[in-house]
Amino acid sequence: MSTTQRVKDRFGRPVTNLRVSLTQGCNQSCLYCHREGQWEPADGEISGEEVVDLIEVAKTRGVEKVKFTGGEPLVRQDLERIIEAVSPGLRDVSLTTNGTMLADRARGLRAAGLDRVNVSLDSLDEDVYSAVTGGSVDDAVAGIQAAVEAGLYPVKVNVVALRGVNDDGDFEDMIEFARATDVILQLIELLDTGEAYFERYHHDLSGVEAGLERRAEKVVRREMHNRAKYFVDGAEVEVVRPVHNPEFCRSCTRLRVTSDGRFKPCLMRDDNLVEVGEDVGASFVEAVKRREPYYC
Ligand code: 5AD
Repeated sequence: MSTTQRVKDRFGRPVTNLRVSLTQGCNQSCLYCHREGQWEPADGEISGEEVVDLIEVAKTRGVEKVKFTGGEPLVRQDLERIIEAVSPGLRDVSLTTNGTMLADRARGLRAAGLDRVNVSLDSLDEDVYSAVTGGSVDDAVAGIQAAVEAGLYPVKVNVVALRGVNDDGDFEDMIEFARATDVILQLIELLDTGEAYFERYHHDLSGVEAGLERRAEKVVRREMHNRAKYFVDGAEVEVVRPVHNPEFCRSCTRLRVTSDGRFKPCLMRDDNLVEVGEDVGASFVEAVKRREPYYC
């Protein structure tokens, strides 16, 4: 094992976590999907071997946490094998999934070395859920329950706030669900990726956050993105508000990998990607150097 050579970007931010998109394929069609900032169809799909090589190099450069995403990462049948190969030496391996195909694989993923999962669940209402995602809420809830049972701890449930779609009443149901199921709720502000959905559904969460602040038994700030965490009615609620939030970018320690295997310095931009060359370490360093706060 080589020694770790950490690199910081021009703004003094280290990169300690990697968010890896494994595919653009997905079994759902969420009306707000930001496609992890990959708006063009990918040029093929990164192989399992390439992902493992890339993460091994990233580890030697200070990456301690890896999150797999998609599309839907469970579309990849080699996900367990990838996790098994990379998890030794990582402090945290997680997955962002819609959960609908998770029930059968949660235990195997845990055994392979997966630490935890984030599952998207925008509403508990069957009709709202299917209007937003095109899928079935029961499948997603079954996935969440299987993840909790498999010890993929803590399970986080991602709720993207959509004005006029999932409003106050839905948040209350979600808080109750989070308490009863022992999961953490992550309430996420809709990001503007330049598509029509933003104007229509953007919900400025300041009112919701003020309400949580009033009710909270305790408030904590996370280092990552300077996110606030509220403890309300026995549930834990994290609010993710990146839009026009310089604090969010200032404390970002993330580098991305696209589903076709390029380094991506920022979710919001696709004009500064780095092709991975023979020398993966040099490409990693180049990508870190290209990191710039988007909101500043
Ligand atoms: N704005 C905010 N969050 C989004 N996600 C997807 N699209 C958007 C968007 N436009 C989040 C969902 C999903 C994760 C992969 O990204 O919460 O769980």
